[in-house]
Parts: sequence; structure tokens; C-alpha cells
Amino acid sequence: MNRIVATGMAVPPCVVDNHLLARCMTTSDEWIVQRTGIRERRVSPDTYRMLQKLAAAPDKKAFMKSVFAEGLDGSINSSLMVSDLALEAAEKAMKNAGIAPRDLDCIVEATTVPDYAYPHTGCVLQGRLGLTSTPAISLQQGCAGFVYGLAIADQMMRGGMYRQVLVVGAELVSSMFDYTDAGRDMAVLFADGAGAVVMRAEPGPRGVLSSHLHTDGTVLDGLSGELFGSSTYPVVSQRKIADDRARPRMNGRAVFTQAVRRFKEVVRECLAAHGLGIGDVDRFIFHQANLRILEAVADSLEIPADRVFKNVERYGNTAAASVPIALHEAVQAGLVRDGDLVLLVSFGTGFSWGATLIRW
Ligand code: UT7
Repeated sequence: MNRIVATGMAVPPCVVDNHLLARCMTTSDEWIVQRTGIRERRVSPDTYRMLQKLAAAPDKKAFMKSVFAEGLDGSINSSLMVSDLALEAAEKAMKNAGIAPRDLDCIVEATTVPDYAYPHTGCVLQGRLGLTSTPAISLQQGCAGFVYGLAIADQMMRGGMYRQVLVVGAELVSSMFDYTDAGRDMAVLFADGAGAVVMRAEPGPRGVLSSHLHTDGTVLDGLSGELFGSSTYPVVSQRKIADDRARPRMNGRAVFTQAVRRFKEVVRECLAAHGLGIGDVDRFIFHQANLRILEAVADSLEIPADRVFKNVERYGNTAAASVPIALHEAVQAGLVRDGDLVLLVSFGTGFSWGATLIRW
């Protein structure tokens, strides 16, 4: 079986609470808490500095427009990249596993917005770990990326190709949102962070029991970002920015409805594959999209509230990093113990969703 032998996480030190957001856009702590359950989130130092300035700016629309046109304080260089967070989480997971980068047979990395359009972030991470020939794979399933990564790693290990694999979910998405009224639906939800696990092939009953993956590519408008992409010609242009096509888009209600439906379906599918019921699962590690989504899923499947791990209140939605961060914190808090049955579930852009059942 292929077991997660260690976890790790990294978040930037800058904390943004709902009150700071309410000084940038028309929103309130009450609205955000009631609709999402989020009280604060971690963002890159650049986003934090930008928010401080935006909060003080008399003309917020003009200030945000200038940031998208010129960067911040005359610079468009990031002080923190997604590979920085991926590296920190990976190093912590490897330290907890008692291994060095050279002990890895493969790296699987999931990120929504990479450091570069190419090469991929798994490749950047691999180089920063000081490796020169270990294979690295990057996935772009948005919030579902880490669960897809676990499934791919597990299958490569089942096939005997690799024995020890690092799986990372990392995001630095806060830099892509409009923090004025124009982008408030998404800006209050998403945030930065990274989580990582080391998977090892070991004899015995503990490890990944099965993974169940799905995609529906017919509803791209639900949650998408053209950013750097061939949907426009050329892929980057001043016109693309002026027409607001470089910014992410979301149909919040459609995402909400689909997320609840797909979470429920895949939980049932996964448990049915093993003849198990809800009551057999010791801990549900759900993608921390939004507290209301987690509560709707738990209510409808009759999952006892204390079996669903939640940290969305402190980190917001960290997309591909959300499940490994939640898993790490649940393990650290002693909420996932040896022998427990743990179900990881995620849903995101695409839409893509999936579940992984683990005997811990
Ligand atoms: O990994 C998946 C990631 N995505 C998600 O999890 C998103 C799922 N969707 C949601 O969580 C909810 O749809 C939202 C939290 C995004 C929005 O909540 P809602 O109850 O669906 O609100 P709504 O979109 O129906 O909008 C209601 C009102 C609108 O104003 P009007 O048109 O009624 O005047 C919005 O403009 O709320 C307004 N609104 C806001 N108001 C204050 C939208 N965002 C905000 C905001 N603060 N941040």
C-alpha cells in the first residue's frame, strides 16, 4: 500500500482580516462570515502592501487600475512566488518524513497560477530542491489538483514505477484579484498557501485504498481565468488587460450548487466502492472552499459535524493547497490517528473533482 508518511505546510505571514477588505471594497465582516465562514486569510507580502494602500486610496478604482497597469511602487516583480511556498511546504514534509530530496523518486505538484506559463511549477520546485534528474509533474485542476496528484502518485507507485513520491498543492492566487467592488465576489474567498505530503510504498494495510476522479469540461464559464492563454491573440496584450480578460471570473451560485452536488456524489461513490457507510469514516478532509458548502454537504449526507475538519475560517480558500493544509493541521491536532479511515474530497475549476480514501 502507498502511505502518506509525513505532511507539511507553509503560509505567508501576512494576515488579512475581513475588516481590511471592507476598507477596500463594499463588503462587511458580517457578510463574508455569513456567506463563507471566512474571518481571515494569508496573502503574499505584495498583496498585503497593495491592500494597505488600496484601503487608504481616495479613488479605489483608479488605484486598482494603476496596479494592474504598472504594478506596485513602480515594480512588477513579486517578492514571493508560488514555488517559494511549495518549497517551504515540501521541505517541512520531507523533514517530518526524515528524508532528503535525493530520496524522492518523483514530484507531483498542483498549482492553479504558476510562477511561469512554462516551465511548470513542479519543474521549478524540483530545481529549487537541488535535483537535476528526478521527474516532476505539474497538474492544473485548480482546487482539485492535490487530490488528482495523490491519485496519480498512488497509481504510479502501484505499478511499481516509484517507491517514494512528494505530492504538493501550492497557490499564490491573491495577486490576480481585483480588490475593489468589481472583483469582490472572488477576492474575499481565495488566498495563498501550500501543503505537501510524502507518500511511500510500504507493506501492510495502511495507505490509499482508492481514488475517484471526475471532470465536466462543458461548464468552463463557472470558474475560469484567461490570464496567459491562447484564448486570446496574442496570449498577452494591453487590450486583454484593458478589456478585463486577464482577470479571473466566477459564477458563484453555479459553483456553489455544482460543488455541493459533486461532493455528495463522489463521497457516495467512493464509500460504495468499499461497501462502507458515512459512519465508517473517522475524518472527512474536505476542500475548504466555503463553510456553507461544507455544512450543506455534511447536513445532506448526515455526517456528524465533528467528523468534518474545518480551517476555512483562518485561511480562506487556498485552492490546490487547501486539502493538504487541512490534512496537515488535522494530523498535527491529533484528529487523524493511526488506523483511522480518512476521506479527502475536493472540487474546483473545470469543473474537476475527486475523492481519495485512506486507511491512515
Ligand atoms: O473552490 C470553489 C471556489 N468557489 C466557491 O466556493 C464559490 C461558491 N459560491 C459562493 O460561495 C457564493 O456564491 C458567494 C459567497 C460567492 C456569493 O454568495 P451568494 O449568496 O451566492 O451571493 P450572490 O452571488 O447571489 O450575490 C448576492 C449579492 C449581490 O448583490 P446584488 O446583485 O444582490 O445587489 C452581489 O453583488 O451579494 C453581492 N456580493 C457581495 N456583497 C458583499 C458579492 N460579493 C460580495 C461581497 N461582499 N464580497
